[in-house]
Amino acid sequence: MQRRFKEQDVEGQKLLNRINTKDLKRGERSMGLFNTKKNKEAKMEEKKDDKSILLKNKKSLKDIIAPAGVDATHTNHLEISASTTKYARSVIIATMPRMCTFPEFLRSMYTFGDVNVSVFIKPITENSSQTDLNKRINEIESERIVAAERGDINRERLLAQKRAEAEDLRDSIAGGFNKLYESSVICTLFAYSLEDLDKQTELLSTEMSKTMIGIKPAWAMQEDAFNSNMPYVDNRIHKAHTFDRNSMATVFPFINSDIGHPNGIPLGFNRQTGLPILYDNFSKSLNNYNMVVFGKSGAGKSVAIKTLTARSSVLMGIESLALDAEGEYGLVAEALGGVNVVISPSSSTIINLFDIEPELSKDEITGKERAVLNVENKVEDVTQALVTMARGSTRSSEVNELTKQIIAESVAEEYEAYEITSDVNSIYIKRNEKVLDENYLGRQRKEMPTIGSWYKRLLVKAKENRNPDYRFHYSYLVKVMRQYVREYNGQMAYFDGQSTFELLDDIPFINLDISQLEERFARPLAQQILLSWVWEKYVKKNSEDKEKAAKKRVLVDEAWMLLPYPEAVDFLNTMARRARKRNVSLAVISQKFQDFYEKQEVQVVLTSSDTKLFLAQDKSEIQYIKEVFKLSDGEANFLTTCTRGEGLLKVGEDTAIIAINPTKKEFEFIETNMNEIAKRK
Ligand SMILES: Nc1ncnc2c1ncn2[C@@H]1O[C@H](COP(=O)(O)OP(=O)(O)OP(=O)(O)O)[C@@H](O)[C@H]1O
Ligand SMILES: [Mg+2]
Repeated sequence: MQRRFKEQDVEGQKLLNRINTKDLKRGERSMGLFNTKKNKEAKMEEKKDDKSILLKNKKSLKDIIAPAGVDATHTNHLEISASTTKYARSVIIATMPRMCTFPEFLRSMYTFGDVNVSVFIKPITENSSQTDLNKRINEIESERIVAAERGDINRERLLAQKRAEAEDLRDSIAGGFNKLYESSVICTLFAYSLEDLDKQTELLSTEMSKTMIGIKPAWAMQEDAFNSNMPYVDNRIHKAHTFDRNSMATVFPFINSDIGHPNGIPLGFNRQTGLPILYDNFSKSLNNYNMVVFGKSGAGKSVAIKTLTARSSVLMGIESLALDAEGEYGLVAEALGGVNVVISPSSSTIINLFDIEPELSKDEITGKERAVLNVENKVEDVTQALVTMARGSTRSSEVNELTKQIIAESVAEEYEAYEITSDVNSIYIKRNEKVLDENYLGRQRKEMPTIGSWYKRLLVKAKENRNPDYRFHYSYLVKVMRQYVREYNGQMAYFDGQSTFELLDDIPFINLDISQLEERFARPLAQQILLSWVWEKYVKKNSEDKEKAAKKRVLVDEAWMLLPYPEAVDFLNTMARRARKRNVSLAVISQKFQDFYEKQEVQVVLTSSDTKLFLAQDKSEIQYIKEVFKLSDGEANFLTTCTRGEGLLKVGEDTAIIAINPTKKEFEFIETNMNEIAKRK
């Protein structure tokens, strides 16, 4: 048979040759007659021929990726021959547990290594699932009756349970809450040697048995199984299992291998893989919980951090506090059920920078928690704030070590005068124990020193001073600090007096709005004082014991404003360094990366932030970011061209291109554009 075909072929070829030579001869003749005219045509013909040869030899995608051959003669594996031989074995799922959990069901298979997995899902119509289930229920019931008659109590109970389950399923399908599916799972393993293939098969089998899934090689069906596992949607192995809708959902791969954490809040999408990026700000895998967000104006920094805050409040119960320089976090506070505090010359809100709180500290030896009052630290913090205030908006160079010394001394004296010592009880009013018992009204706090009371002390000390070296500094302070004192109607007296509110625990979002303060000096000063106050009243209260501690976040938006003030920078650094111990995440958000880069003192903030989010950058600044964070050319280039809400997320060592897409509902409270907000109203 084959030979006959061949002979015919040869005949055919001869015929073809004959026609060709005939044609050629005729062609030659005509060329002789109309030489010049036909020349062009002949050339064109030649070109056409060229093209068809090129086309003929062009390789398709298949030619490029196909191996030399596949040997499918073995019963339990395939041999793929290319430059090296690779072995493939397909396995199918033979047995399954009765229930499966999300998202673990096939995870060990998907992440096993060099494997391909196909899952075929076919819905079963309501009609046939109802009929089948009814039939099955009848069978189970008759078996149960037999078991009951035999007195086999255990079996009877088991069958009764099965019947109830089947009935439940039938009813939920009838009600439209559930549905049945038929599904088969095929997995192909690859290895470079047969021994390795056997080993991998055994390993996969052990791995899957942990979740009670039994696998079997597709014995004598390797070729069909291999083809079924190709992306042709052609299932040739009909070994199916029945799933209901809930268990079917557990089959979808939900893995996040590149960046982020297994649990956490959805922060955005990975632009390269399309997968959601889950981010857990307090994950154990992070060295610290701090975060920096850099980007040019309008890049979407505030929107990104608001999205993060809102989602982590709702989904993970993380409490946040914002130092709001632009007055844009009020709506977030409202939406999350928090509080919004406005600090301005006209509001009656007072924040007392002298407030001191006990600090919970864990005893190294006994492991017990103990409250302590660290007055020395507090004196230092207050001194720093007062020094900044004394320097004023002109950042006067008249303020030096001597001035600082005067301030520190008088601050310490203030606490002494109020009898506040390292004893925790010293912040409460002493009472007559005989009249009031322990539970009566609780303990009452003492009044704290204030800038006003401190200023009075300063006046007295200035008068008493006989040392000529100090004379100038006293008179400078007396003059300059007056503007912060309420009694003299100071312009910036909002820090003088007893605090009018408390930073309570269990509030989802506290916003301290300082946007109404004058921008050049009053606002950064308020940022610094508030930072110190927040440390005292919000952070220090948190336990050092991770089990007991709440998860808290402190947001400092527009942080570049702080940079010209050394005391403020110092405080930011300290906070960044000490935050982790108190289970607090400091989030620093800023434009002007260059300013951070050039300031040596603020490097701690950068180095102690394990999470970094870079949104769109100005060309002038990208060089610095590239250098500090060792970005590739591609990454750096991306950051100068990306759109709003897009950027580079670095979590520890991992990097991903992220797109943050807040929902419409979220935009109702995270929008920063005042025109947009007005439009919505
Ligand atoms: N992911 C996003 N998707 C869509 N629009 C966004 C996104 N992020 C920000 N925007 C829009 O871009 C504008 C600016 O955003 P945003 O206020 O967050 O910028 P910013 O980086 O904080 O700027 P600035 O440094 O000036 O404070 C807003 O109007 C906001 O609605
Ligand atoms: Mg902003």
